[in-house]
Amino acid sequence: MKRGEKVILAIMGVVVASLMVRNALSLHSGGGVTDPGIPFYSTASAGLLHEAGDLYRANDCRQCHSLWTVKSAFESVPAPALDGVGSLHSQQWFYDYFSAPNPQTILPSRLKREYRHPSLIDLPIYQRQTLAQYMASLRVKDWYLEKARAAEYEKLTGKAYPAAHGEK
Ligand code: HEC
Repeated sequence: MKRGEKVILAIMGVVVASLMVRNALSLHSGGGVTDPGIPFYSTASAGLLHEAGDLYRANDCRQCHSLWTVKSAFESVPAPALDGVGSLHSQQWFYDYFSAPNPQTILPSRLKREYRHPSLIDLPIYQRQTLAQYMASLRVKDWYLEKARAAEYEKLTGKAYPAAHGEK
């Protein structure tokens, strides 16, 4: 074997060995070195989570919305997912939205009446505040914010997110 061939073989050996180590490490950490993890989190206290969770179930929000990857029961209702929604609006915005006699004056709908977000004006003020506080606690990490905006836009309008045209 020539000297040059030996050098090439040695380099290949090092590359293969380091790839094997890298794979072993990424398997070990579960998701691989490039996986940045789940982008959604909540800043809610245990008390708020519990109280708001009860209201969320009692008012059938789950019928139309998905949250924490729990899919909505109606696949046919294209309501926005609520994961990270607290990074898109303020707590006051949620309170006003839930308190509006006609929420579509705040967020226009493209859907048939029965699929639109219902007014929650009949709920006691305290419950609307609790839901608003909980919604505001549902955050998305910065690196995923644009994706969350795009997903919301596409659900609300049924159109592709304009800013996405520049990407990939
Ligand atoms: C009948 C289906 C339905 C139910 C029930 C429902 N929503 Fe909605 N919601 C929607 C739809 C659809 C939209 C998007 C606006 C529209 O089309 O009216 C929406 C919008 C929202 C938004 C704004 C989302 C964004 O990305 O800007 C929030 C927050 C929200 N809903 C929270 C709730 C909560 C909390 C409950 C339970 C108290 C609930 N919704 C119950 C259908 C529903």
